[in-house]
Amino acid sequence: MHTGGASGGGEVLVLGIETSCDETAASVVLRGTDGSGRILSNVVRSQWAEHAAFGGVVPEIAARAHAECLDLIIADAMREAGTGWGNLHGVAATAGPGLIGGLIVGLTTAKAIAMVHRLPLLAINHLEAHALTVGLTEGLAPPYLLLLVSGGHTQLVLVHDVGRYQRLGTTIDDALGEAFDKTAKLLGLPMPGGPSVERMAEGGDPARVTLPRPMAGRPEPNFSFAGLKTAVRLEAESRAPLSAGDVANICAAFELAASESVADRAKRAMQLARELRRDGDTAVLVVAGGVAANRRLRRALDHLVQSGDIGGVPWRLSIPPANLCTDNAAMVAWAGAQNLVRGRDDGLSAVTRARWPLDSAAAPLIGSGRHGAKA
Ligand code: KG4
Ligand code: ZN
Repeated sequence: MHTGGASGGGEVLVLGIETSCDETAASVVLRGTDGSGRILSNVVRSQWAEHAAFGGVVPEIAARAHAECLDLIIADAMREAGTGWGNLHGVAATAGPGLIGGLIVGLTTAKAIAMVHRLPLLAINHLEAHALTVGLTEGLAPPYLLLLVSGGHTQLVLVHDVGRYQRLGTTIDDALGEAFDKTAKLLGLPMPGGPSVERMAEGGDPARVTLPRPMAGRPEPNFSFAGLKTAVRLEAESRAPLSAGDVANICAAFELAASESVADRAKRAMQLARELRRDGDTAVLVVAGGVAANRRLRRALDHLVQSGDIGGVPWRLSIPPANLCTDNAAMVAWAGAQNLVRGRDDGLSAVTRARWPLDSAAAPLIGSGRHGAKA
């Protein structure tokens, strides 16, 4: 990789490609001379229908589905943006972490475009794309604390600057979205599990089912959801056969336990985030990833930031719109643009990486999931 100095840069137009899991996506984003971002197109095709019969994402089916439609999705994104190849300044694709077959489809396509049109190629870390999305949606610049909660990742990351990330905590077993998906599967609810659990939980009473708050009070801001998943299974087994009311109560109790656990862990990271303690400034907790769409989790985090100063400073919450919290290519194009104006060009020898931690200095914790690395 070649990395030049931050130039600030002129206006840049970047095509982004996302194929790391079960969404095939392409987007064109314009980064203005003032550093602001504008989405010119954002095309996302979800593969859920292809995977539904298997109760989860099947890597081979995912790779094939990406290969079958990616060129059409890119053509759509270019057409919707009203632009041509000659106007692009760079092409960015997710190169990891994720399912390797899909990553190869996306990065190889990006390389072909870069080669034919003589464009810089940006091989983007999917986690960096999630981490920088708030720069695109609300012009928020680092430093801030990121809570990333998705199907493959559950992390607390200090975003010092573009390219400088420090992991404060991660899950020691399952990712939060994975826990939602497994809870849904156990209760016979349709995939994707998060929205199903949330819908069922609306009619439930969380006080009717007692579940643990994993890791609460621990000094390291790590997460664990395997025990919670087991507790859900034991509660479900003890009540079988389950009525619709039982399912609703279990969903509500699971959502509450997970949300309170995440809020407790986030609070611990906020206490540790000394770099964000600047006189007169409000520190920002950014939430990204698919599970950030969950309303009970948003309420728990809202309650946390409104409860008063944490670590000696006031906090506010920043959550991108739901369609930019879940996987999309606008975040990849934006991360590409942010790196491009800093002089980066990964070139045609860039490689895909199933595992690719944002903070290379952080010790890996045990566990593997849909995206490979959770650590
Ligand atoms: O970020 P994302 O689209 O893909 C990954 O990078 O993993 O996140 C997908 C995850 C899935 O586990 C899905 O069940 C969960 O986000 N999810 C939700 C909600 N919407 C999506 N979990 C809880 N509540 C929701 N409303
Ligand atoms: Zn993601």
